[in-house]
Amino acid sequence: MSVEITESSVAAALAGALEAIAAATDSASLKAARSAHLGDASALAALNAALKDVPNDQKAAAGKLVGQARAQANQAYAAAEERIVTAEQNAQLENERVDVTAAPSRWRKGARHPLMLLQEAFCDAFVGMGWEIAEGPELESEWFNFDALNFDEDHPARAMQDTFFVEPADSHLVLRTHTSPVQIRAMLEREVPIYVLAPGRVYRTDELDATHTPVFTQIEGLAIDKGLTMAHLRGTLEHAARLMFGEGAKIRLRPNYFPFTEPSAELDVWHPTFVGGARWIEWGGCGMVNANVLRSAGIDPEVYSGFAFGMGVERTLMFRNQVADMHDMVEGDVRFSQQFGMVV
Ligand code: PHE
Repeated sequence: MSVEITESSVAAALAGALEAIAAATDSASLKAARSAHLGDASALAALNAALKDVPNDQKAAAGKLVGQARAQANQAYAAAEERIVTAEQNAQLENERVDVTAAPSRWRKGARHPLMLLQEAFCDAFVGMGWEIAEGPELESEWFNFDALNFDEDHPARAMQDTFFVEPADSHLVLRTHTSPVQIRAMLEREVPIYVLAPGRVYRTDELDATHTPVFTQIEGLAIDKGLTMAHLRGTLEHAARLMFGEGAKIRLRPNYFPFTEPSAELDVWHPTFVGGARWIEWGGCGMVNANVLRSAGIDPEVYSGFAFGMGVERTLMFRNQVADMHDMVEGDVRFSQQFGMVV
């Protein structure tokens, strides 16, 4: 059946097309509108096909009428396509949105150990005052651990510390019994003046119990300069005490003997906020560096003097953070460490 090309038949075909295109809400319904109103079987296609039957004198006008209608429908289609594709893309992007700032869920791997945190806090404060960190090996030669520190060959002081000797005996190696051998290493490696801290593990043949462990941690301090006196040692230790135990902390020095310091003192700290009530705690040893030790490290004791101290990190944690049993510190149960924060 042939269609007649009239203004109203063309307008009706166009209106149908525009209406269907406008009503399309997604690419599927737009595609359906396209094949119904712009495809081969559409009214506009039929009108286009009918052009060949139009008498020649009317061809131009009819062609223009149909051509404009088809162009308008195509334009409307193109605009609708852009609108729908953009909307669909936006919806998809929204759907697949990933919050790159969201905290991922993952296994807790562990926690920093409080002994480590405490050492770092202590060292950071001293580094802030210009001190440096010095190191030495845990498997140490007897010479650094004892001889250079003025322990006499058969001086009873050598037996004062219960030493792990390492076989073969002629290797002259020990597991260091204290961090003091780092004093010697620091003096040999560095130029004076020297202000160093040496935190690290030390070993003694103690049984593990509530208050002892064969492996523990010390922080050694060494200062070598012109004109250093016991007053400088005191001031430095007061500062360290306040750092660890709060503003109300103070220190007390009791005479003692160490072969590598002269005079030597036992260091007690007043713990002002101890849970059982404020009290004195034995914290470590200290003293003025023995002239023999300075000499063995090639430093002239007539020109330079120095002080040294060493304290136990486990004891500090025990009293500062109420850890009653040493087992908790060495067993490595992550729930213990997590109580101190810094879960990683
Ligand atoms: N090294 C000593 C000890 O472990 C402590 C100490 C360090 C004493 C420095 C004096 C000076 O007991």
